[in-house]
Amino acid sequence: MMGRIIYLTRRETFAAAHRLFKPELSDEENFELFGKCSNPNWHGHNYTLEVVVAGKIDPDTGFVLDIKHLKELIKEHVISKVDHKNLNIDTEFMKGLNTTSENITVAIWNQLVDKIPNGRLYSVKLYETENNYFEYKGEE
Ligand code: NI
Repeated sequence: MMGRIIYLTRRETFAAAHRLFKPELSDEENFELFGKCSNPNWHGHNYTLEVVVAGKIDPDTGFVLDIKHLKELIKEHVISKVDHKNLNIDTEFMKGLNTTSENITVAIWNQLVDKIPNGRLYSVKLYETENNYFEYKGEE
């Protein structure tokens, strides 16, 4: 893209349960590898998600993309599938994946990348805690 590019961010939060584990390992071995996040009876996080869309301003509307529309897309394709859910069990788009923040971030990107009507998905950031976040900008 050439010219003036605007980066638009929508922030959402969700609460979800998960467990990090490899099914072929014992509970003890999983605890060695994944620590507290491998608790066999699950645990939760309050996640914050930031979705950034890059694009040019539509001279007609003055928008890159109607932020209300972006909010609705994120709700429909991501938040409704993760909020107050168990990511290991309830979330179809995490099936077969270990529910690390890295894998969740990429899976959220994949949920959204072909749904953005104007501009393009630029990055997905997932905050697992105040101090840790994970960012994906697509394949290089
Ligand atoms: Ni955890």
